[in-house]
Amino acid sequence: MWQASDVAPWMPGTSPGKTENGDDVGGVRYMTFIIAVDGPAASGKGTIASRLAVAFALPYLDTGLLYRAVGVQAGDASSREAAIAAAQALDPSSLEDPALRTREAGEAASKVAAIPEVRAALLNFQRAFAAQAGGAVLDGRDIGTVIAPQAPAKLFVTAAPEIRAERRWKQLVAQGETVALDDVLADIRRRDARDSGRADAPLLQAADAVLLDTSKLDICASVDAARRIVEEARARWERS
Ligand code: DC
Repeated sequence: MWQASDVAPWMPGTSPGKTENGDDVGGVRYMTFIIAVDGPAASGKGTIASRLAVAFALPYLDTGLLYRAVGVQAGDASSREAAIAAAQALDPSSLEDPALRTREAGEAASKVAAIPEVRAALLNFQRAFAAQAGGAVLDGRDIGTVIAPQAPAKLFVTAAPEIRAERRWKQLVAQGETVALDDVLADIRRRDARDSGRADAPLLQAADAVLLDTSKLDICASVDAARRIVEEARARWERS
């Protein structure tokens, strides 16, 4: 399991291998090719990000799992103190737990994610992951805006709420959950409102992110489109 301590800490205003002016350091080519994938719940961003990681041979972090783990460990998501303590003590090796994929975990995650101290406690881990040599793929809500605003490739993946609800419903049913499609749609709308409406690091398309609407695309077509966007970004980055 990857540890935050395995990589050099990220320094605000700089990138590993580059000075603040963007010059290469010590003749070493700046190699941190970060792919930032943001978007609302069930937009397909997780599938796209993990396939991009394979295609570009980069390590991948699903940052939603961090918030899910905090939400689940905090137990009562209405307890601010419990959520902050869970975030400060979070062990990233607990992210494999299938319980983090449930509907309840998603709801709890969205609630604790609105607490600024929770976000602050998870910030360095995510930035360190993004800054590892060679680069990384991260997906979430604030990767292109807060975690890695310097990322050379940014995608904002979205789809109509009804389409996202149907996809999430199929996923949950396949996991063995018994749930009505309408309830999943209501969850999605509530989470969209909470994630976009919070004051700290809201769900937002970065000004330099490419919008990818997957409403009418299947998984293959979505991944192909994302791959083309990243290949173009990579070519620009290599020329720069
Ligand atoms: O991507 P997901 O559905 O697993 O995310 C669960 C919740 O975690 C989401 O509703 C909001 C929060 N989250 C966040 O605030 N910032 C991130 N970078 C990732 C997730």
